[in-house]
Amino acid sequence: MSVEPTASYEADPAEVGRVLLLYSGGLDTSVMLKWIQERYDAEVVALTVNLGQPGEDYGVIREKAVQLGAIDCLVVDAREEFAREYVLPAIKANALYGLGYPLFTALGRPLIAKLAVEHARQTGCDTIAHGCTGKGNDQVRIEATVATLAPELKVIAPVRSWRMGRDEEVAYAREHGIPVKGGTEAAPYSIDDNLWGRSSEGRWIEDLDHAPEDDVFGLVTRPEDAPDEPEVVEVEFERGVPVALNGERLGLVELVERAGELGRRHGIGIVDHIEDRIVGLKVRDIYEVPAAAILLLAHQELEKLVGTIHQNQLKPMLEQKWAYLVYGGLWWEPLRTDLDAYMEAANEAVSGSIGVKLFKGAARVVTRSSPNAIYDAQLATFAESGGLFSQAAAPGFIELWSLQSRMAWRLRDEHGVTREGGKAPQREDA
Ligand code: ARG
Repeated sequence: MSVEPTASYEADPAEVGRVLLLYSGGLDTSVMLKWIQERYDAEVVALTVNLGQPGEDYGVIREKAVQLGAIDCLVVDAREEFAREYVLPAIKANALYGLGYPLFTALGRPLIAKLAVEHARQTGCDTIAHGCTGKGNDQVRIEATVATLAPELKVIAPVRSWRMGRDEEVAYAREHGIPVKGGTEAAPYSIDDNLWGRSSEGRWIEDLDHAPEDDVFGLVTRPEDAPDEPEVVEVEFERGVPVALNGERLGLVELVERAGELGRRHGIGIVDHIEDRIVGLKVRDIYEVPAAAILLLAHQELEKLVGTIHQNQLKPMLEQKWAYLVYGGLWWEPLRTDLDAYMEAANEAVSGSIGVKLFKGAARVVTRSSPNAIYDAQLATFAESGGLFSQAAAPGFIELWSLQSRMAWRLRDEHGVTREGGKAPQREDA
């Protein structure tokens, strides 16, 4: 059977010779490793990318890939690049999608796909394979990246076409000597994680009225079980970059990891999220984002302190656009880098410290300090005025500030107009 590819970058099976497979060591990509060799009579180079997902044994993953017939399994430690080039811009952009998702997966995919392109070229592969389904965002992020950066490379996405359910995959694995963790019991949660967070999907999470079961939390302590004593963490920033925790200067990877550990201990960063995927579906995710919950909160607070009212009103609009582009897999879209230029400029003044109190699932800002704060305690105080602020100027300001509103109100009144806002109050003499 030969099916015409729909997209220009989809591989023609006859032309698949050597495939770079994005390999996690899990069931899907392990079955895929064998299946590609059989189906396409092709060689497979496996690539596993370390973005700081906890508890991974890369030696074991590598061995498994080679045992399943990969001609090589490359393991790339991309934590530094991920933190600097992807997480940091997200911090500067206070990036949250749909008011709650700090985009850790969405930030990781363009980097993974970029590394796939680089290693495919180095190892003479003509095709890149990934394990994403046809229902998610990740296929969009990976394929958009490959098609953008490497028009000469093709893509295959076996899960979209092979029509195997989990049971068939397990059966295939058994037949082909692929070790399966956990046997054939109920499907596990679908997990994705890195330095910046962890998501769980599937099982009861798909029942919207099912409250989170405890076993879903792989990272964060249940708030109920968190310490009875609160803890304050002091986050220091220089030009928007978090540089120290509690006075200790740390590299970005380590700082994110440490913030994550503090948050985990105190039950911080659980997000039960309804999400609009770019492919149209509405889904539910359970996120655990302890580091992001602390660092984004602190960054946003500091920015608010050093920005003017005008900067503070504009930036969230641009942030929302930034987050949407990144969520939607358009990392390489010029508008994203245009917006980054603004984020950089706005972050020039974002230096100082924010104290965040962590206690049983809640993170709350308790202290702020910055040499760039547009704040003057003398001016803000209720006590006597003076200096730059003249209280005597206030009535003149109010007269002009309210001028148009007052004129409009009077007209409505005169015409007895009823707008959505309701009828103007009746005048005594009417
Ligand atoms: N909903 C999130 C997103 O679209 C997380 C997806 C997690 N990916 C996964 N393959 N389990 O970015």
